[in-house]
Amino acid sequence: MGNYRIAVLPGDGIGQEVTAGAVEVLKAVGVRFGHEFTFEYGWIGGAAIDEAGTPLPEETLRLCRESDAVLLGAVGGPKWDGNPPHLRPEKGLLAIRKQLDLYANLRPVVCYDCLASASPLKPDLVQGVDFVIVRELTGGIYFGQPSGRVVENGEEKAVDTLLYKKEEIERIVRMAFTLARGRKKKVTSVDKANVLSSSRLWREVAEEVAEQFPDVELEHMLVDNAAMQLIRAPKQFDVIVTENMFGDILSDEASMLSGSLGMLPSASLSASGPSLYEPVHGSAPDIAGMNKANPIAAILSAAMMLRLSFGLTAEAEAVEHAVRQALDQGLRTADLAPSGGRIVSTNEMVEEIKTAVLDYTAIAQIMTVYA
Ligand code: IPM
Ligand code: MG
Repeated sequence: MGNYRIAVLPGDGIGQEVTAGAVEVLKAVGVRFGHEFTFEYGWIGGAAIDEAGTPLPEETLRLCRESDAVLLGAVGGPKWDGNPPHLRPEKGLLAIRKQLDLYANLRPVVCYDCLASASPLKPDLVQGVDFVIVRELTGGIYFGQPSGRVVENGEEKAVDTLLYKKEEIERIVRMAFTLARGRKKKVTSVDKANVLSSSRLWREVAEEVAEQFPDVELEHMLVDNAAMQLIRAPKQFDVIVTENMFGDILSDEASMLSGSLGMLPSASLSASGPSLYEPVHGSAPDIAGMNKANPIAAILSAAMMLRLSFGLTAEAEAVEHAVRQALDQGLRTADLAPSGGRIVSTNEMVEEIKTAVLDYTAIAQIMTVYA
């Protein structure tokens, strides 16, 4: 039975509520499976700007480096919108990704049967959707230099640079192929090779990596077409691998296939140290503190932590099963209202999932006894 140190960075807005929910569920896993999870809290984003004058305090970074994994909520809010670039909450998130070398962002997009009608798309189009977006997270246009504003000859300009080194592309594409090997064995590499040099290098490298995975099919798709295909026929995808900003945009689009952005978890895997787990959604200031937010994306992120950082497969399955059960029983947070069922608060959803985690273990034990 293991001991695991988890750094919890709730951040801003609903980040507070949803990470609290995920921690509750992890505690239930700990009790039932006999693990000891230690939770230590740190500031990030707007909360860190208010407390420590910077979006990513050294102390937070140290805490993360000393932990086995990091659970993050969300950052941002109108309070800090007018801040200068280096004092924006988002800077804290970008900095932690870079500092911890979290290069591989896995964003699974799954449509649970009972939520098909929560999607604005036709239920038969989204039912059965099950793919993963592998988003490069520490390079590309988010980090390339030069970046910033300049005044030249009295003219105002701004620049961002989309830059990739070959090795950066190689490692993310390899991650995608490795993942596809355990799934439906298809990688769609999304780029803009008809226009961008960085995309032409991306495509070349993807071809090279593909040679080491002869059992996996590789297809290239231009990003504009990919945006369309995600809505036209989303079941064609298994693993999508793409540049940082393309992945950011496509994953928000893809969330609508699962019914709500409140359903999408993510794992940001590190090359060297602890990995970080966070819901794809933002801080939703409009509903912050109202006990209305959907905690499922954060809870499923915790399940990814159990599986990917701690190798606790049965425990991860217990959490995923509990989420499915709560949804099958008709519990819905407000964002899932279009699919019918009973509207519940954040806390009620968390309670139900916690209880189901405990029950799952009981069932699993019975199954072992009678197997
Ligand atoms: C995400 C978010 C972040 C991003 C923001 C908050 C900086 O949109 O994780 O998808 O753009 O990466
Ligand atoms: Mg985003």
